Amino acid sequence: MRIVLLGPPGAGKGTQARSIEKAYGIVQLSTGDMLRAAVAAGTEVGKQAKAIMERGDLVPDGIAVRVIGDRIEASDCKSGFILDGFPRTIPQAVSLGKLLEQRGTALDAVIELSVVDEQLVERGAGRFTCKNCGEGYHDRFKRPATPGVCDKCGATSFSRRADDNEATIRSRLANYHAQTSPLADFYRRQGKLFTVDGMGPIDEVWRQIDNVLCRFRASAASN
Ligand code: AP5
Repeated sequence: MRIVLLGPPGAGKGTQARSIEKAYGIVQLSTGDMLRAAVAAGTEVGKQAKAIMERGDLVPDGIAVRVIGDRIEASDCKSGFILDGFPRTIPQAVSLGKLLEQRGTALDAVIELSVVDEQLVERGAGRFTCKNCGEGYHDRFKRPATPGVCDKCGATSFSRRADDNEATIRSRLANYHAQTSPLADFYRRQGKLFTVDGMGPIDEVWRQIDNVLCRFRASAASN
């Protein structure tokens, strides 16, 4: 399956992508994670992206498309992937369509997570991540079972993102409404959009996504 997770900053794309990865055995591709890795490594792409990301703006389409275009060539993407944070503009979506068409394939489904803005600010501002395995947590909504110890790998070091402060989150939200939300109509017209209520607890949101993907897989198998 080739899936896009669409949703504003803090909607739960990364959280749910990890559950899809585990349940369906397809790899999560997060452009945000790839760009943060490029910034940390000080590559040419990272140098161009750093200040833009710290402001909460989008990096130029050409950079995002190149990053994802290179990544989907890898062998672990052959059986499918979950795109988390890409595409984010109509030109990125058009480029993605062309990239997949050149490979004789296409997107299967776009799952949109719908969450109101005030909840997104709270989710972003309380987020932290295991430095070792990348598992995501939240000060209020998802604490490690043992305080200070990662549930998944047992590591004890965590980090917070530079763009997870209220002012930058609000700027990321404004960019989302202006540049990314038109993608919902773009994919609705293609009959690929499934909207999920992202306001409930993490497990409840996962049940809705799993339902959509199960139904999709069953109908693809019967065609
Ligand atoms: P990116 O890393 O993609 O960030 P984002 O889209 O802003 O999304 P987030 O990672 O903040 O949120 P999420 O939806 O994954 O939520 P999460 O699951 O972590 O992009 C960062 C930057 O990179 C961009 O601003 C841009 O500069 C650049 N960039 C990236 N891709 C680009 C592209 N294609 N084009 C141009 N520029 C690009 O959840 C958030 C928190 O809430 C967590 O703590 C989690 O535990 C908690 N949580 C999750 N679900 C729930 C729930 N249901 N209830 C309660 N808490 C929950």
